[in-house]
Amino acid sequence: MSTRSRPAVQDRASRPVISRARAATSAPWPPRTALVTGASSGIGRAAALQLAHEDTRVLLVGRNGVALDEVAAATGGHRFATDLAVVGSENAVASRAVEILGDIDLLVCSAGVGAAGPFEAMSSTALRNLVAVNVLSPMMLVRAVLPAMLERGEGRILLVGSVAGALGVRGEVGYSASKAALIGFADALRAEVAGRGVTVTLVLPGAVDTPFFRRRGAPYVRRWPKPIPPGLVAERMLAAAGRGDAEVWVPGWMSLAARVHGAAPPIYRRLANVFG
Ligand SMILES: NC(=O)c1ccc[n+]([C@@H]2O[C@H](COP(=O)([O-])OP(=O)(O)OC[C@H]3O[C@@H](n4cnc5c(N)ncnc54)[C@H](OP(=O)(O)O)[C@@H]3O)[C@@H](O)[C@H]2O)c1
Repeated sequence: MSTRSRPAVQDRASRPVISRARAATSAPWPPRTALVTGASSGIGRAAALQLAHEDTRVLLVGRNGVALDEVAAATGGHRFATDLAVVGSENAVASRAVEILGDIDLLVCSAGVGAAGPFEAMSSTALRNLVAVNVLSPMMLVRAVLPAMLERGEGRILLVGSVAGALGVRGEVGYSASKAALIGFADALRAEVAGRGVTVTLVLPGAVDTPFFRRRGAPYVRRWPKPIPPGLVAERMLAAAGRGDAEVWVPGWMSLAARVHGAAPPIYRRLANVFG
């Protein structure tokens, strides 16, 4: 741990929980530096707070400057406000990260948007924005930081997916498809960089208690499962990235649904039709 002083963190999600396990990369853990998108809210914010507890220097990316200021004050990190849906923003983020942090030990791509309702009613503008933020922006950002990681032979990439991407959820067609694309991206990228010192971890959360649902314009209405705290997702996904795990489901039991989906698709479809 460094002796660098840091401001007091008042958020419950910021407990020092990051394991010190070693992974298939020589990148240090806890990381010295991290670039975190979606850091102004929810899961990304919780991850930034937990990283700061481990003296990781963070660059916080989001659009909401006021929220970023609050997280920057709590973490001692720097903030960079930008719209990741805008072409070229990823290069601006990557340049700023190198300027502020130097080498990036960990990239956390948490920025994302939801969309709910019948697919035929989704506007083309909303669909384009969904794909730009959920799919293109993490791909572009990884592309921007990966060459330096590969050159150094170390680095960790942590992508925030969703169970919706693995299962395909009715009423969330565009969102499910965007997160399914992220699963394909993570799998292919992991295979491509294997043995070159860079790990790729995908987290698949279920419902999480964040402003996500309000912002997508449709509240979470299921009685079960109950949304879990963003601090728990951050804790599990950072631990998985520390170990260099390929993926982590939060809560873990949700992987059962994916196993049924993969092993017996007709049975899964029947159950999904009954239980939604
Ligand atoms: N909440 C859930 O139930 C749940 C479940 C599974 C997966 N996830 C995934 O978890 C990730 C984080 O979601 P969350 O629950 O933490 O939601 P959240 O609280 O709404 O946070 C979303 C974050 O993404 C950022 N963002 C959205 N659009 C952006 C854009 N165009 N440019 C830059 N930043 C943008 C937001 O920044 P600003 O606020 O500054 O605009 C915010 O920091 C997402 O990828 C989401 O798909 C969420």
